[in-house]
Amino acid sequence: MQFDSKERQIRSFVLRKGKMTTGQRKAVEELLPQYAIDPVPKQLNFHTIFGNDNPVWLDIGFGNGESIIHAAQIYPDVNFLGIEVHLPGVGHLLIESEKLGLNNVKIIRNDAVDMMTKHMSNDSLDAVHVYFPDPWHKKRHHKRRIINPEFLALTTDKLKTGGRLHYASDWEPYAIEVKELLSVTNTFKNTQADGGFSDRPEWRPVTKFERRGQKLNHGSYDLIVHKI
Ligand SMILES: C[S@@+](CC[C@H](N)C(=O)[O-])C[C@H]1O[C@@H](n2cnc3c(N)ncnc32)[C@H](O)[C@@H]1O
Repeated sequence: MQFDSKERQIRSFVLRKGKMTTGQRKAVEELLPQYAIDPVPKQLNFHTIFGNDNPVWLDIGFGNGESIIHAAQIYPDVNFLGIEVHLPGVGHLLIESEKLGLNNVKIIRNDAVDMMTKHMSNDSLDAVHVYFPDPWHKKRHHKRRIINPEFLALTTDKLKTGGRLHYASDWEPYAIEVKELLSVTNTFKNTQADGGFSDRPEWRPVTKFERRGQKLNHGSYDLIVHKI
């Protein structure tokens, strides 16, 4: 995984060292070649990658992969592409994917924004999921929030017409900011008539980050919109 420091300077993550368990390390060594798209080709061809033309749902910053593991089981006819930089989380997803025999999961370990910008065709994704993205609480760090007008424009380009953007957060101020950003785009239509938050749909499980937020008495805020 290499980043060109001359390009996008402001990234939505800081690479954390993070301890790997022995199992995660072993999974990365043994299973990553099977599940990872590495090297990432100039242009990602999902038909070649997944060996079928099923819809592709992209999960950005999948953490330890809980949401992919859950949805990949209940939607076997959907292809799941997870992009994450944090290696222990990648290891966790690999272990579970192997245990469950999931053959509809692929992983890229890199910056999702770079991958979308440089390697994905327009109108190629059926869904983009961004669950509990780092809220970057401090005002001086808000510029690191992954959801911003540029990201929404990029996502519009990469989604098929009718494709879904699903964001979830436990940090209310960030959720309100995203709701407002979405309300002023003319490329997305909210699934809620009032342009507000949705109930958690069946494809999104309660994740570790959400449980942590619940313990802190945070709410959960889902926004589900479709590309017009
Ligand atoms: C707070 S965690 C949430 C994890 C997971 N989505 C969940 O709901 O449990 C956010 C994750 O996004 C990853 N991340 C942030 N920006 C990213 C980017 N541009 N590309 C890939 N991963 C990113 C971080 O490494 C981190 O693991």
